[in-house]
Amino acid sequence: MSREDLSTAAADFPDPFRLLIRESAESTNDEVRILAQAGAPEGLVLLAEQQTAGRGRRGAAWFSPTGESLAFSILLRPQEPKSLWPRLALATGLAVAEAIGTCGLEAGIKWPNDVWIGQRKAAGILVEAGADFAVIGIGLNVNTNEFPPEVAGIATSLRMEGSRVFSRADVLAAILRKFANRRRQIDADFGTLIFAVRQRCVLSGNRVSLTTACGPRTGIVEGISDGGELLLRTDAGLERLIQADEVRLLPT
Ligand code: BTN
Repeated sequence: MSREDLSTAAADFPDPFRLLIRESAESTNDEVRILAQAGAPEGLVLLAEQQTAGRGRRGAAWFSPTGESLAFSILLRPQEPKSLWPRLALATGLAVAEAIGTCGLEAGIKWPNDVWIGQRKAAGILVEAGADFAVIGIGLNVNTNEFPPEVAGIATSLRMEGSRVFSRADVLAAILRKFANRRRQIDADFGTLIFAVRQRCVLSGNRVSLTTACGPRTGIVEGISDGGELLLRTDAGLERLIQADEVRLLPT
């Protein structure tokens, strides 16, 4: 899939999204933050064919081989109160999962930020907020055939799951179409968004371990609250988690 195909697909992006392609960037999230601070408008989508310092959450490196995956960041200037911005991660994960669905594959949401196919991670999302903007970074393994040993056991791609090559341009356009809808639902229509997230939540009913700002936890996931929190039943009672890291499924 060439740069021309990506540019052609960009002509059909919903408002306000406009594509900027870089052959190489350290991290698209960092580049978009710099552009945002310089006044770039909402809707900028910066895609890098290669990231030399792509970042995941907690400072982990993000592997995105040139031309095989999608690595891009979206600039938003949300009008919603900042307390609602964490919901953008759920809207994004849902949009990515729905876009994967348009490719004929079934994707789930591993709250809060990952998109899984089966029991493996196909996409990761990194939302970073500035004073008056948010940067939504998305890394999706589209045609990746081989992963480095450290993630080979937990990562997958559309190609590995679908046994064919997918058009990155079509997948990108589908993500932005789905995201344009879901992004509007983080305030008044959040019930609709959460209903759809619950349908795809891969953690519900499962025993998990995770880390919170208050320390590690182990428990059974009872679901996702109306506010988007993870409902975790631990020996100490029911906890409502706004954010967590290192979420791992445990054998039941
Ligand atoms: C995670 O799962 O830990 C989040 C991964 C986010 C990766 C994307 S790729 C595009 C954007 N630029 C980055 O440096 N990171 C995000």
